[in-house]
Amino acid sequence: MMPIGPLMIEHRLIERMIDVMREELKLFEKEKKLNPEFLEMAVDFIRTYADRCHHGKEEDILFRELGEKKLTDEHRHTMEELVEDHRWGRKMTAKLVEANKRYVEGDGSAMPTAIDCMKSLIQFYPKHIEKEDKHFFIPCMDYFTEAEQQAILREEWVFDRNHIHEKYKNMVIAAEKEMISRAL
Ligand SMILES: [Fe+2]
Ligand SMILES: [Fe+2]
Repeated sequence: MMPIGPLMIEHRLIERMIDVMREELKLFEKEKKLNPEFLEMAVDFIRTYADRCHHGKEEDILFRELGEKKLTDEHRHTMEELVEDHRWGRKMTAKLVEANKRYVEGDGSAMPTAIDCMKSLIQFYPKHIEKEDKHFFIPCMDYFTEAEQQAILREEWVFDRNHIHEKYKNMVIAAEKEMISRAL
């Protein structure tokens, strides 16, 4: 398998979540209310899976290795654009988290903000994925030898294995902090 194989498989799951978000958004607009539990779940997916696990492998492994190669101007430009897209996605997700929190606290004005953030993310992900799948990933494989591709693939598996430990370690740390602050 090429190292872009796992990344492209992950794209398919991200698209499925975006499809669910698109349907949920219609419901929010029809019922004129948000579903904060749904948003918490969607945001956890975006942050943990789409950003940390998926963009993490792109930026920390694939793009890092591509950065060592003599890329064409076009490919270098696209790679910079993709990293900038990831940053934009993080900011938009943080804005959605904040709007959802305000909504739960009773601030009705947070609803249009949350809706706008959802719309932006729903538009953003398919475009970003298309840029990678159709215009970047495959031509970029030509920069690597077969052995380099296999080394990247192996590093991706290790990244995934560490990722699950990182997620749950952080969950325990947060729970411990919560317990200590309650005991004070
Ligand atoms: Fe990406
Ligand atoms: Fe991607």
